[in-house]
Parts: sequence; structure tokens; C-alpha cells
Amino acid sequence: MKILTVFNHAGGAAKTSTVRDLGYAFAQRGFRVLLVDLDPQANLSTWLGVDAEPSQTVYQTLVENAPLPAPSTVFGLDLIPSTLGLAKAEAQLPGIIGGVTHLRDRLGEWTDRYDLVLIDSPPSLGQLSLSACLAAGALIVPVPTTHKGVGGLPAVHEMVATYRKLNPGLHIAWYVPTQYNANTSHHREVLDVLRERLTPLGSPITYRPAVYPDAHAQGMPVSAYQPGSAADTEIQRAADELEAIIHLGVQA
Ligand SMILES: Nc1ncnc2c1ncn2[C@@H]1O[C@H](COP(=O)(O)OP(=O)(O)OP(=O)(O)O)[C@@H](O)[C@H]1O
Ligand SMILES: [Mg+2]
Repeated sequence: MKILTVFNHAGGAAKTSTVRDLGYAFAQRGFRVLLVDLDPQANLSTWLGVDAEPSQTVYQTLVENAPLPAPSTVFGLDLIPSTLGLAKAEAQLPGIIGGVTHLRDRLGEWTDRYDLVLIDSPPSLGQLSLSACLAAGALIVPVPTTHKGVGGLPAVHEMVATYRKLNPGLHIAWYVPTQYNANTSHHREVLDVLRERLTPLGSPITYRPAVYPDAHAQGMPVSAYQPGSAADTEIQRAADELEAIIHLGVQA
């Protein structure tokens, strides 16, 4: 079982879209996929059509080291959803010795259940992000193809170095350029910079102002909402690239 956290503390980097769409792509390929929503915004849950109760989230696991809750099954993948109440864990965890490793320890009990676990982290550097990064074997970092996206990278690398002190194997397995607009010279220039600086870097995910909001509104992965579309093709290519890097092994 590979556990990957999608991490970039900058807001709006496309973390949640990446978790949802790659998670669905791997589930479609026959892998046993678990998504964990660690963001109190609960966008991942909402964008998969799941309106959860607090008892369905990782809250009790984080604060009491309770066993993980039974996941919901949607679109052929499993999801442990979030609610706004998960924000309470952010405040409580500093007072709980070893609390930030509860998620890692409990996920470790599910090694045989899944091929791939993708964790969606919130746009902050608190205890929830720390829990997500300590549970992970590696990170996926989505980077918007803007100056702001590039400008956020040193802080991402600094945080990963800090987390590595507590999780020595932690590394960035894959960077993926997001919200790319090939018609804008600024985006093309930034993509060139990313290609020079980041390895391994995936092919860009194009900014599609109609498809993404529509898929969110329908509570569906993009590839389920518009199978066979250019957006779907791009997501499949990203999944191909990531699969080659993380070696998921034999399909279920
Ligand atoms: N390829 C895309 N084309 C168009 N819009 C996109 C694309 N990818 C993401 N978005 C939009 O950008 C916004 C941010 O995306 P998303 O929520 O996935 O990022 P995030 O990093 O999870 O954000 P947060 O930091 O708030 O958790 C969303 O409104 C989403 O619809
Ligand atoms: Mg998000």
C-alpha cells in the first residue's frame, strides 16, 4: 500500500482536484483506492457528492487514536470524508502527546486493504497537514503555473525538510503543474521554469473554467463527468506518469 499526501500549503493549488481525479483514475484501473479528506473545508467530500456526519471523519482517530471509521464507497473508490468539525482537531492536537502520528498508525493497520491511499491536506501548516505528511510515504505537490505558484515552492521545500526530521523517508515523488493556460505567455514562461527546477515534473493540467466547476457542482470526478474529453485524456496521462513513478504493482 502506497500512501501519498497531496501537499502545498498555498491555497487553491489544485490539491483537492488532483486527489479526486487521480484517485478516480487509479480506481478505474482496478487499484483499490482510499481517499482521506483531512481538510475541514471538506471540498473533496463535497466534490464526490458525500455529505458526511462528524462520526464518519478521522476526527476520533486524530484526537483519541480510535480505529479509522468505515469509509464511504463512491465512484469505485473509498473515501473517509471530512466535515468542518475536523477543524477542532487542529486546536486539540498540540495538547495530545503523539497525536500527530495517530493517522499514520491507524492507516498502517490497513496495509492489505488498499493499493493506494491519497490524502488531501488543508492549505495551512498546522497539525492536520503535519498528520497528513507523517502518514505519507511520499508527497505529490501540485504547482499552479503562475509566479505565485513558483514563489510558494521554497516554503514547500522548507516544510518538507522539517517534516522529514519526523518522517525520515518523506520525499516529493512528483510535482504536477496545474491550472495551466497555454494561451498566456506568463504561464508558458513559468512552465519552462518549473521544467528547469523540478524533477520529476508531470505534464501540465490545463485550466478549464467550465469543466472543473461543473464537475464539482455535480459531485463527480472530471473523468466521470466527461469521459473521453480532453480533460479526461489529460488526467489519464497524469495517472500514467504517476503510476510509472510509484510502481503500484499488480492490479486487484
Ligand atoms: N484545471 C482546472 N481548471 C479550472 N479550474 C480549476 C482547475 N483545477 C482547479 N481548479 C479550480 O481552482 C480552485 C482550487 O482548486 P482546488 O480546490 O482543487 O485546490 P486546493 O489546493 O485543494 O485548494 P485549497 O487550498 O482551498 O484546499 C477550485 O475552485 C477549482 O475548481
Ligand atoms: Mg483543497
